[in-house]
Amino acid sequence: MPPIGPSTLDADVYRDPRRYELERIQVLNRSWQIICRSDQIPEPGDHHVWQGHGESIVITRRDDGGLSGFHNVCQHRGARIVSRSGTGARRFTCRWHNWAYDREGKVVGVPDRHDFDPGSLAGLCAPAVDVDEWGGWVWAVLAGPGVAGPLLDWIGPEIAADLGAYRMEDMRLVEKLEWEVDVNWKVTIDAFSEYYHAQALHNLPPKDVKDGRESTMDVFGRNAMMVVPFMGVLEELRSSLDHTALAICNYSLFPTAVFNSHRLHTQLFRAVPLGVDKTRFEAWELQYVTEDTGYRETADLFWTIFKGVIEQDVMEWVDVAAVARSSAYRQNIFNERECLLTHFHRVCEDMLAGGDGLGLEPERDLTPHKG
Ligand code: FES
Ligand SMILES: [Fe+2]
Repeated sequence: MPPIGPSTLDADVYRDPRRYELERIQVLNRSWQIICRSDQIPEPGDHHVWQGHGESIVITRRDDGGLSGFHNVCQHRGARIVSRSGTGARRFTCRWHNWAYDREGKVVGVPDRHDFDPGSLAGLCAPAVDVDEWGGWVWAVLAGPGVAGPLLDWIGPEIAADLGAYRMEDMRLVEKLEWEVDVNWKVTIDAFSEYYHAQALHNLPPKDVKDGRESTMDVFGRNAMMVVPFMGVLEELRSSLDHTALAICNYSLFPTAVFNSHRLHTQLFRAVPLGVDKTRFEAWELQYVTEDTGYRETADLFWTIFKGVIEQDVMEWVDVAAVARSSAYRQNIFNERECLLTHFHRVCEDMLAGGDGLGLEPERDLTPHKG
């Protein structure tokens, strides 16, 4: 465990509407977030419309194979330009008064242009978003190009290497589950960043819980990683250190993504904030592309079991939502094994205050322990 220790957190962090407004601007819009799979928009003109935290964007595949993205907001009078994802578009037309936009979001057609003040139309564009791809995923920064730095720096070299080893770009989306839940988005990210709840909520056998206490946790920049050993492999894991084969690896990519990787398959848990107390929670299941039916059956079996477990996490949020506004809910008390939550909220706090969320990792003593 990184030496972060226990902490407490004011309950208003999850329920203050003014704070949520600030988070939209300072945290969510200034961060790289996952939008869709790269193979959802493979050909030029294929486009994906995404909506979350009051924003809507369009990401389009260009002729050169790269991506462009812009805010899906007509600059005439503020209507959404594109209502749904589609294929092969050369330009996008707002249906209200037929203003036309190119794939980069530039206004390229205005009916009765001479009726407007030319100064208002000169060089007019729907604001650009930053967009890039990694791991077979499309990522975007809503505040625009350059605001969050390069995507690979955001992911960081440690997680890019470790999570990258699962080759998500070689996987296909098998199923995507969605729930609209009445809790703040941070409740859902918290839930997938600790193992402490596994014994009670998921009814884990005592041996598994004991091995789970040997999980390792690390923070890298804004992000974090937790390695939970499979049941009964501790000795083997200690000698081989092959955590990719012998553990479930959990990667928290600040702010809204948690990957759960296993040698057979990977899930993305993705929070899409919709309001201070409303979140779309998504679980994406990826499996390797292969003709091996034995593999597919085993991976499907694991996924069926995992779905039941995720359902338990989601159902717990009903009880969280029920008392979120209670006068008796004053704070969270995090233990030291919930330290990744402590770190996550410190990064949030720093970005809310205008910082970049970096430099908050505690110093670690990495000298090997004796005995
Ligand atoms: S609002 Fe889009 S064309 Fe008028
Ligand atoms: Fe869980």
